[in-house]
Amino acid sequence: MLLSDAMVAALNEQVGNELSASNQYVQVAAYFDGEGLPMLAKHFYKQASEERDHAMRFVKYLMDAGGELAIPAIPAPQARFQHAAEAVELALKSELKVTKQINGIVDLAIKESDHLSKNALEWFVNEQREEVASMDNLLRMVKRAGEANLFFIEQYLMQGGGGEAADEAEAKAD
Ligand code: FEO
Repeated sequence: MLLSDAMVAALNEQVGNELSASNQYVQVAAYFDGEGLPMLAKHFYKQASEERDHAMRFVKYLMDAGGELAIPAIPAPQARFQHAAEAVELALKSELKVTKQINGIVDLAIKESDHLSKNALEWFVNEQREEVASMDNLLRMVKRAGEANLFFIEQYLMQGGGGEAADEAEAKAD
């Protein structure tokens, strides 16, 4: 097998972490759905499926490298929120947590001179940079709009804001 036991364990744990992030985003989306904010709901349903895709990327890498899949128990996500900012803040915290987790696996790959894994993890490192920036931006907008003016955020998302194309455009404008 191409991977150490420690790397197989870390990758399995990360499959769980990504699925956990996916579940959390479904809950955040459902919160916005229930609040009559369909674009915010759609945004987070989409984030949820992206997190599931991340989990599947880890599964595929694990399988390609001859590892064994053992998905860990997934803790229940937070289901209730007081207001929009709390929900988006939790999403940002989740992205920061996942970034740390991925950095931890990169550290392990470096320690083990496992260039195969280090190379595969680069995609995730770059993805986290985009996702943290995008969620941080959304949180700042939600806080600035305030609970009474979330309609502006709905309009922003309706016009294609909050996606990767919008992030790139903002980065160029900076
Ligand atoms: Fe897959 Fe956004 O972490």
